Amino acid sequence: MRIGIFGAGGMAEALGGQWAKAGHEVMVAARDRAKAAEISPRVGTWAETARASEVILLAVPAASVTEVLAMAGNLAGKVLIDCTNAVGPGAVLTVPDQAARIAAAAVGAHVVKAFNLCHVDVWRMTPPVFGGRPLAVPICGDKVGEVSELVRDLGCVPLVAGGLDRAALMEATMAFTVGLWFDGHDAQACFPPLPA
Ligand SMILES: NC(=O)c1ccc[n+]([C@@H]2O[C@H](COP(=O)([O-])OP(=O)(O)OC[C@H]3O[C@@H](n4cnc5c(N)ncnc54)[C@H](OP(=O)(O)O)[C@@H]3O)[C@@H](O)[C@H]2O)c1
Repeated sequence: MRIGIFGAGGMAEALGGQWAKAGHEVMVAARDRAKAAEISPRVGTWAETARASEVILLAVPAASVTEVLAMAGNLAGKVLIDCTNAVGPGAVLTVPDQAARIAAAAVGAHVVKAFNLCHVDVWRMTPPVFGGRPLAVPICGDKVGEVSELVRDLGCVPLVAGGLDRAALMEATMAFTVGLWFDGHDAQACFPPLPA
């Protein structure tokens, strides 16, 4: 798959690095080209990276997505993975529906919410398996085939969880569980196993 990554921070390095190892062509666009080159030898401008890619991971802070998408230009037909978390102090959402905001800015793109629930260190694990159970990764969007493949490339299990209209629930889930974790609670212990 030809994957573009917007941003060269932790999430870009963790996910992009794993996908490159899995054999995908990864191209990175970032303000700092030297940082981008640490992730992949293929570095482009925002627009070059957009044009060259079938799937793009948007891995910049939530507050900068509109600015970055404007620099990227036409994204019609591309799968745009939104892993962003618009969360502020006290684990509250600073934007009520970040994925919808991204979809409005990236006209014609297939926005897919994924990879926002876990800390970057989890995405660096090869593979993320806990208690013998591979990590399940919820995906919300209307074109989920490519993202499901990219989830499997991490050794995780894709969990198709509805359309982009469900993405705000994933964003709220992230804020709620992060709040629990920060307070020292085991968020996973809130949920009974499926047979129950
Ligand atoms: N870290 C996590 O555990 C985690 C987990 C799940 C989801 N996320 C989400 O993933 C996204 C990326 O997180 P991260 O941890 O990778 O962040 P990060 O390490 O801080 O990297 C952010 C990247 O975005 C770039 N950037 C910042 N402001 C920009 C702007 N105005 N225009 C263009 N580029 C800009 C930074 O460039 P410079 O280096 O030039 O500043 C950097 O390349 C965020 O939305 C975050 O909420 C993070």
